[in-house]
Amino acid sequence: MIVETGAKSGPLYHRLSTSIAELIDRGELPPLAVLPSERALADALLLSRTTVVTAYQTLREAGRLERRRGSGTWVRSGAPGGERETVSGDLLAGDHVASPFLNGPLATIDFANAALPSLDLVADVAAGLTHDDYRRLGSAHHGYHPRGLPALRERVAGWYSGLGTPTTPDEVLITSGAQQALELIARGCLQPGDGVVVEEPTYRGALEAFAHTGSRIRTVRADQDGMDVGALEQMLAARTPRLVYVQAVAHNPTGAVLAEERRRRLAAAVQASSAVLVDDTSLAGTVFRGPAPAPILGSGDRIVTVGSMSKLFWGGLRIGWIRASARVTSRLAQVKGVTDLGTSLVSQEIALRLLDRVDEAAAARRESLAAGFELLTGLLSEHLPDWTWREPRAGASLWVRLPNGDATHLAQVALRFGVALLPGAVFSADRHTDDHTRLPYALPPEVLREGVLRLARAWRAYAEGGLREVSLTTAIT
Ligand SMILES: Cc1ncc(COP(=O)(O)O)c(C=O)c1O
Repeated sequence: MIVETGAKSGPLYHRLSTSIAELIDRGELPPLAVLPSERALADALLLSRTTVVTAYQTLREAGRLERRRGSGTWVRSGAPGGERETVSGDLLAGDHVASPFLNGPLATIDFANAALPSLDLVADVAAGLTHDDYRRLGSAHHGYHPRGLPALRERVAGWYSGLGTPTTPDEVLITSGAQQALELIARGCLQPGDGVVVEEPTYRGALEAFAHTGSRIRTVRADQDGMDVGALEQMLAARTPRLVYVQAVAHNPTGAVLAEERRRRLAAAVQASSAVLVDDTSLAGTVFRGPAPAPILGSGDRIVTVGSMSKLFWGGLRIGWIRASARVTSRLAQVKGVTDLGTSLVSQEIALRLLDRVDEAAAARRESLAAGFELLTGLLSEHLPDWTWREPRAGASLWVRLPNGDATHLAQVALRFGVALLPGAVFSADRHTDDHTRLPYALPPEVLREGVLRLARAWRAYAEGGLREVSLTTAIT
């Protein structure tokens, strides 16, 4: 929220206090809303605590906030008393920390986001839909299909059958992106206290979906060949978790593809236990080195495969799916119905047509991702020669290791140099991976070049001074 508003120049504390004042004026922070602690907001926005302390103090002096020792800081109200509700720091930060709030005179380069740009194919296919197509869609459907457009479910099922695992439309549930698929699986399958095993590092959105259910998350290391399946086998022998989450086809953030032998062992180990295996294949179609494996598929209630159109075509379509037994999809369709009554039929109609062009899209992705990878790694070798990384085979990001220090603090310094960075800690359930950061390479060459130059300057400032307030003017020059 904050990130969308506020003064676009001046010291950070001023930009922050202006942003908060605007939220108060718009009623988004109502009277008596309790603000996050200074430390929580500083962590969420990747700012120093001093910046937040000064911003809160400015707003108190202006009569916008009140503070009492032990009760926190809240929005001042004319009326006495009333209910107070605490606003979370993460909510205020929004998902993408690097947004206009942080854009000073120097527009922020967003290295925090590893989304892929839309393929032109999407515009071509969307523009090909005619007035008659929309009329047909509108007259054939009332618009509410929690399970998804029948033709699309059939198409996705046919695709899986073509891979050698017979699948019926009943075994496919269309979702609003893979993120919703994970949320539905979490809500439909997990109870507070259930054990969930994830890789470390792993996709941050999955961690968030699982954490909301109150499950206990345990981690298994993942390296260049994907999940350490030996460690998982030991874990399964000690105590079976309810769910194991893996990205076997292509991994965010590391770009790893699970090695064939590990993949066989993983499927066998999970089948022999009572755990549910969720294979998130959202990055399928982005393998740009070596062969692209098929997803882990199976019959029965304990293999659940998640797919998405976002990486191959465009995240803005918001189309993903779950392939699972008819019993599981049926149960999850009920949860989906409660959530949104179904995904947009217009997007599903476009998705249906795009699925005819998967090979073309994958070829375009392979070429541009390989080029982005070469450029980014070349720039890093030149400007940040101490940084090291795992060689990805897929995806749009490099999992980079810092020679020393931690990425949370580096990210704070980098912001002052005009680069938003995601610290490695956000990809770990235990926040263990903060000696890493994730750098995207599906960006225009000039953005990659400028971003790495700024990052190199930020790294020098960080390495020399640690986390100190680097003034905005110093950073820009
Ligand atoms: C591994 C993984 N799963 C799921 C998602 C969510 O994708 P969608 O846009 O389909 O919701 C992402 C997005 O980055 C991802 O990387």
